[in-house]
Amino acid sequence: SVILYQDKFLQREQGLVDMEDRGYQFGDGIYEAIRVYNGNLFLMDWHMERLVRSARELRLDLPYSAAELTENIKELVRRNGIDDGLVYFQITRGAHHRQHDFPKGVTPVLTGSASEMVRDPDRTHGISSILADDIRWLRCDIKTLNLLGNVLAKQAAVDSGADEAILHRGDTVTEGTSCNVFIVKDGQLITHEANNFILNGITRRFVFALAEQLQIPVIERDYTVDELLAADEVFITSTGKEVTAVVKIGDQTIADGEAGPITRRLITAFSAEVE
Ligand code: PDD
Repeated sequence: SVILYQDKFLQREQGLVDMEDRGYQFGDGIYEAIRVYNGNLFLMDWHMERLVRSARELRLDLPYSAAELTENIKELVRRNGIDDGLVYFQITRGAHHRQHDFPKGVTPVLTGSASEMVRDPDRTHGISSILADDIRWLRCDIKTLNLLGNVLAKQAAVDSGADEAILHRGDTVTEGTSCNVFIVKDGQLITHEANNFILNGITRRFVFALAEQLQIPVIERDYTVDELLAADEVFITSTGKEVTAVVKIGDQTIADGEAGPITRRLITAFSAEVE
């Protein structure tokens, strides 16, 4: 496959990681994952705005403008011949002999890839989840390469035969390991507010827009594990999973084990936007 390295297109085998790269040593960098539908980058502007925000929060100087980056990523998609797929790219603070504080005069390192990802024609089957303690740091709003808290929770899910882990801080449900979590109660959507405890997902925001079109009210607030387990429906949102029902949490079946009616309406509305 063809990868993006800074502003150059290389064969994947030609891309080498410098062992002194701060992304490698500290997870000192940021990333985005963007969906490609019919050869087009989906909600690219929103992803770029979030990237710029992540960079600002980490005081990382982006080596390219959002416009340059967008052009190069479009070219990456084109060179890989991707119609339906996923772009991943990351920017680290750069390579320097290891020191914790920011080294002076380093150039950030950008790497990106594009791969095929085919949409499931039937989006209505649900996934299973476990509950896991949210042990991550307190800046989950920044899309950084530091994902060990997410990785460990996801592995705990896989180890117990589940697809996903829904994270909670104390009684409060925050999000999934790589997705946001919504509950449906009495015809309303409830999801954690966009603060430092969650990533403000692009799909989450897109679902707000779909819900408005469908006249489904959305409430952003803390909700508890008990509310989650007593919900009429539960679904997750992410770039990869779009809108996906959660039909089992631990031993508890949600919504009779199937995607519920409001989740289905959102899935249909989502598909209409991307097909
Ligand atoms: N994950 N929360 C977390 C912790 C995430 O890592 C993600 C995305 C989301 C959903 O964000 P979005 O709707 O913008 O994809 C929420 C990406 C897909 C990943 O790590 O691969």
